[in-house]
Amino acid sequence: MIFVTGGAGFIGSNFVLDWLGQSDEPLVNFDKLTYAGNLHNLAALAGDPRHQFVRGDIGDGAHVLALLRQHRPRAILHFAAESHVDRSIHGPDAFITTNINGTFSLLEAARAHWAELDGAGRAAFRFLHVSTDEVYGTLGPDAAPFCESTAYAPNSPYSASKAASDHLVRSYHHTYGLPTLTTNCSNNYGPFHFPEKLIPLVIANALAGKPLPIYGDGRQVRDWLYVSDHCAAIRRVLAAGRPGEVYNVGGWNEMANVDVVRALCAILDRLAPKAGASYLAQLTYVADRPGHDRRYAIDAGKIERELGWRPAETFDSGILKTVQWYLDNQAWVADVQSGAYSNWVEQNYAGRGVAA
Ligand code: NAD
Ligand code: DAU
Repeated sequence: MIFVTGGAGFIGSNFVLDWLGQSDEPLVNFDKLTYAGNLHNLAALAGDPRHQFVRGDIGDGAHVLALLRQHRPRAILHFAAESHVDRSIHGPDAFITTNINGTFSLLEAARAHWAELDGAGRAAFRFLHVSTDEVYGTLGPDAAPFCESTAYAPNSPYSASKAASDHLVRSYHHTYGLPTLTTNCSNNYGPFHFPEKLIPLVIANALAGKPLPIYGDGRQVRDWLYVSDHCAAIRRVLAAGRPGEVYNVGGWNEMANVDVVRALCAILDRLAPKAGASYLAQLTYVADRPGHDRRYAIDAGKIERELGWRPAETFDSGILKTVQWYLDNQAWVADVQSGAYSNWVEQNYAGRGVAA
């Protein structure tokens, strides 16, 4: 079985659903259920014995180690993190606590578990760390995309905390021989994306008749990847990646923010037309994000050459599916926005400790 951290968040829940859609190998899903964790994402797995959910904090090393000893997973897939750049600007503390100290605690638990395995178990074990392209900093307009040897230059508290976690993972391989794998991925989009991030925020605001906020001049560039392609890349790295290696994952799809928002408006104009006006009329330029990175772009050549992975979705196909998902799941967005699901979690988990 495998042990997943952060499997109730955006990418983690997509990963869990995809994993159990293509394999019968069970998993433990260990998640603190912060504001970003949502068990409704996993409703399709209700009653499925292959999915065991445990609420907990990766910073609680004793809890993690007890679970590792109980379940003896062959791999840990580490998604849990504070993930929103704007929140890291307003309040970096949680980012240091979870992304740095939490990853450190998890690595210590993993190392203790790994040391207790027999020879074959130790050789087969993997610690896969899910990280971001933001650790590489920002690119000029004509600079070559980030590759695995690009120097780290993180610019936000979020990316600095992820960079620190990447370095810790690297050191546990180099020093202790822990069989680690690291993936550095570009911007994801798709179902269950929390509506504080650009794409789901714009869809939700458009439908609610609210402004569509564009930071600065809107010409900042991101490399967008449909989330199920990221999940497939992670499965491929887990299956065939070489311990100690880093794999960059991206969509070969650079777009300026304002063009992403225009594309969303065009799809919404078709699928959910408003009488007499385009959603474009809601587009609003607002003050820029402090320290805003201008451009990210990933060279995903290594994972293609060595492991045969390439994205299956184009931006056109992925974004259409995404908008349709949000139109079909407006109750999910309303729940997240109203805080109803966090109330539900309190109601369901208060006094229970561990949920299964
Ligand atoms: P998210 O914020 O949607 O989900 C994070 C999950 O981690 C939530 O379920 C949350 O409850 C859980 N969590 C947070 N702190 C925890 C703790 N201390 N202990 C246990 N669980 C905790 O994030 P996401 O967008 O799904 O990102 C997942 C991972 O992928 C992160 O490590 C992120 O850095 C990385 N990443 C994200 C993107 C992207 O575009 N979203 C791109 C590349 C890499
Ligand atoms: O590159 C990978 C990273 O992508 C991940 O590591 C992060 O976890 C993930 O949140 C994402 O970070 P970004 O900062 O790129 O994503 P976000 O959706 O917050 O913003 C995308 C771009 O859109 C960015 O240039 C800022 C801009 N933006 C964002 C918001 C929320 C706006 O112009 N307006 C907005 O209201």
